[in-house]
Amino acid sequence: MNLELYLKEKKRLVDGFLGEYVSTKKKQKDCPKRLSGAMSYSLMAGGKRIRPILAIAGYEAGGGRSGNIMPVASSLELVHTYSLIHDDLPAMDNDDFRRNKPTAHRVYGEAVAILAGDALLTDAFNIISNSGVSPGKLVRVIRELTKAAGPEGMVGGQTVDIILEGKKAKKKDIVYIHSHKTGALIRGSVRIGAIMAGASPAKLKALTEYGEKIGLAFQIIDDILDIICTKEEMGKSTGSDDAKGKNTYPSTFGLKESEKIAERLVDDSVKALKGFDRKADPLREIAGYILLRRN
Ligand code: IPE
Ligand code: IPE
Ligand code: MG
Ligand code: MG
Ligand code: MG
Repeated sequence: MNLELYLKEKKRLVDGFLGEYVSTKKKQKDCPKRLSGAMSYSLMAGGKRIRPILAIAGYEAGGGRSGNIMPVASSLELVHTYSLIHDDLPAMDNDDFRRNKPTAHRVYGEAVAILAGDALLTDAFNIISNSGVSPGKLVRVIRELTKAAGPEGMVGGQTVDIILEGKKAKKKDIVYIHSHKTGALIRGSVRIGAIMAGASPAKLKALTEYGEKIGLAFQIIDDILDIICTKEEMGKSTGSDDAKGKNTYPSTFGLKESEKIAERLVDDSVKALKGFDRKADPLREIAGYILLRRN
């Protein structure tokens, strides 16, 4: 299969859905213009849309065929974008540049940026609840997303990341930080796709293992790219982890060993898919892409 084409096509579909969402938001008279402006600014600034794409690919691998995956898949990008807006705030990572643009708080001020993040997170659940998914699946998807994004997931990881900033973390803490702040939503995205497809428990288990491994690898690579890439390549500030005293894989294990760990995780993620047919090829290819990506 042609991965480049696959990513391009799925990104186009996700961007289409999100474009519709923001244009409707801007017309809603009860939503303040400054708020919808800030939401749209960050959401439509670009981004690889990898979480929605993983949900779509997880859905396809799980045997899903009908079209109603788009709203649920796209809602993951609202949650992810909220996390980026808050991650960049002065009280968190204090970054000025994101998705090739000044960060939301630099343009709209901290208060509106915080509220835009809150609004995106809340609206993700509104989108899911209006997606026409059957009630049983809807509850499972919501349970999955709250677990992935909440205190036992992304927010938990972000908390330990911040608490241990400038301190030397133990190896088990850094594994916790990475698998939660980033791994949890990626794992959740694959699982949500599989749940939407009605995948069997055995398939869901295998897809969970895949998601867990690529989720951790994704953040390890993010740490590596922070060291070896330029701001222009990444569309966000680089060299910043070290400056902030962040606990990263390279600072804990060294650059070479971190690359090896990520490679092993990606290999194992593909092995977890051995019971799947060609419909899981996009997931197999995306695993390799996560390792080789340069932004
Ligand atoms: C950046 O995520 C934050 C991390 C979890 C490492 P992405 O690398 O997916 O960023 P976008 O969405 O493409 O901007
Ligand atoms: C962020 O990790 C994870 C999130 C939940 C946003 P980073 O702080 O390393 O992400 P970047 O490098 O700012 O995108
Ligand atoms: Mg951070
Ligand atoms: Mg950050
Ligand atoms: Mg980073």
